[in-house]
Amino acid sequence: MKVLCVSLLLLLLTLHAVEGSTFLDDIFLPDFDDQNWDDDHEAEAEHWEEDDEVFEFFPTLGSEHSGRTVVNVDGFGAVGDGIADDTQAFLNAWDKACSTAKSVLLVPERRKYLVNATRFKGPCAERLIIQISGTIIAPDEPNSWDPKNPRVWLYFTKLQGVSFQGGGTLDGSGSKWWSSSCKKNKANPCRSAPTAFTIDSSSAVRVKNLNFKDSQQIHFTIARSNAVRVTAVRIAAPGDSPNTDGIHITDSTNVVVENSKIGTGDDCISIVNGTSNLKMKKIYCGPGHGISIGSLGQGNSTAMVTKVVLDTATLQETTNGVRIKTWQGGSGFVRGVRFENVKMIDVANPIIIDQFYCDSPSSCQNQTSAVKISQVMYRNISGTSKTPKAMKFACSDSVPCSNIVLSNINLETENGKAETFCNCANGFNYGTVQPAADCLSSDKNSRCETAIVNVNRGPRFHGYSLLLLSG
Ligand SMILES: *[C@@H]1O[C@H](CO)[C@@H](O)[C@H](O)[C@H]1NC(C)=O
Ligand SMILES: *[C@@H]1O[C@H](CO)[C@@H](O)[C@H](O)[C@H]1NC(C)=O
Ligand SMILES: *[C@@H]1O[C@H](CO)[C@@H](O)[C@H](O)[C@H]1NC(C)=O
Ligand SMILES: *[C@@H]1O[C@H](CO)[C@@H](O)[C@H](O)[C@H]1NC(C)=O
Ligand SMILES: *[C@@H]1O[C@H](CO)[C@@H](O)[C@H](O)[C@H]1NC(C)=O
Repeated sequence: MKVLCVSLLLLLLTLHAVEGSTFLDDIFLPDFDDQNWDDDHEAEAEHWEEDDEVFEFFPTLGSEHSGRTVVNVDGFGAVGDGIADDTQAFLNAWDKACSTAKSVLLVPERRKYLVNATRFKGPCAERLIIQISGTIIAPDEPNSWDPKNPRVWLYFTKLQGVSFQGGGTLDGSGSKWWSSSCKKNKANPCRSAPTAFTIDSSSAVRVKNLNFKDSQQIHFTIARSNAVRVTAVRIAAPGDSPNTDGIHITDSTNVVVENSKIGTGDDCISIVNGTSNLKMKKIYCGPGHGISIGSLGQGNSTAMVTKVVLDTATLQETTNGVRIKTWQGGSGFVRGVRFENVKMIDVANPIIIDQFYCDSPSSCQNQTSAVKISQVMYRNISGTSKTPKAMKFACSDSVPCSNIVLSNINLETENGKAETFCNCANGFNYGTVQPAADCLSSDKNSRCETAIVNVNRGPRFHGYSLLLLSG
């Protein structure tokens, strides 16, 4: 009966694949719709759009343009020589810009502003633009870092309808932090380092055309926010700089990251608990650890990540391509994920689910609880794998992965020995899948807790469940 179900399903999928992918879209992303984001939030954003153009045309002129008030940090005593401490000038300029409607906080180009760890707090008056055209640089000495802000450098909170732009650079001066990391030298104590740029508890925020480099740790975190659009950012740190994730998304909904180039010493994009409706489009990643959902479930915690799409990406010489990583003992779920149109160039583990993730000096015991992974689709993924394990689905024995779908995969190694590894992973493949992934539905999985396709959640799945019943 199981065989019959699977073949019926394959037939159905093949038929639908021919006429387009809407059926699969329905299964895997029942409600996700980028258009909705646009309708709901673009309207809010569009009034800045016209201003942007006018403004970028006269970046450093006088103080009134198209009804906008320009608040230049230089007018508040900022020196911009990279040596003088400009923290207080930035705070004073922030107070003025934030309390003035339609203002532009201007960080002028061709100058370098040294700014300490600082919290920029909203809410602000409407339509604030933060125009970073010059460079903001962090003090480089970990030992004199403000003990009141151990985990942040430039932290923005409670903003609504704000746009960051300007083509400038946020430079975390991270090298001394990296060399004092326990990942670099086991004799060092393991302590956390600041995140360079944080957007927290905000909505309708745009970040476009900015550069981030050499962060102390994570470059850019989006936390507890809704409707954030990140466009054309460039993030760069050395491939061996520890924990320097590019963009980290936590507890946030309706986030778009597009047209961006990220190369760091950790994940290019890391997606953790509480992320829902995330779209990543046109991403270049490398060097780094790839694009990761997780890690999730550390210390027996509960995590939920739903509706994540990566569409059109190139990963080059990264240690992972598209990855989902969870710790033993966690709970919750990752559900409704699609990775598509991805080119891998010399990636060590191009497609990987690792439910035995253990980034700890002591080893981690297997446990009966795990974060449940289901409805994950990989479509049109090709290129080269640096190791034979081009695809690895290492799922929990007690909470197996279900509905893993592979379609049009073509991964090879230099000597042609690519293979697929499965542990307790259930799903199917159709179209070309190279290396073959028969292990997804094979009997090898029968020692795992049963994870027969289980998608009868809600009305959208009726056709699918009925088909299984009738088989
Ligand atoms: C910036 O940090 C340095 C070093 O901790 C400190 O001496 C200075 O007072 C700080 N500046 C401001 C404006 O807080
Ligand atoms: C995970 O996110 C959910 C929903 O946002 C939250 O209730 C929960 O506390 C989070 N868990 C952890 C471990 O942070
Ligand atoms: C996680 O749960 C397991 C099993 O109940 C327990 O042995 C372990 O101590 C827990 N770990 C933590 C960090 O709470
Ligand atoms: C498959 O993905 C590649 C990017 O790797 C893209 O150029 C190509 O257009 C995609 N093919 C289809 C049919 O979408
Ligand atoms: C945990 O389970 C996996 C899969 O069954 C197995 O490969 C691994 O050796 C186990 N790890 C430990 C520490 O028992």
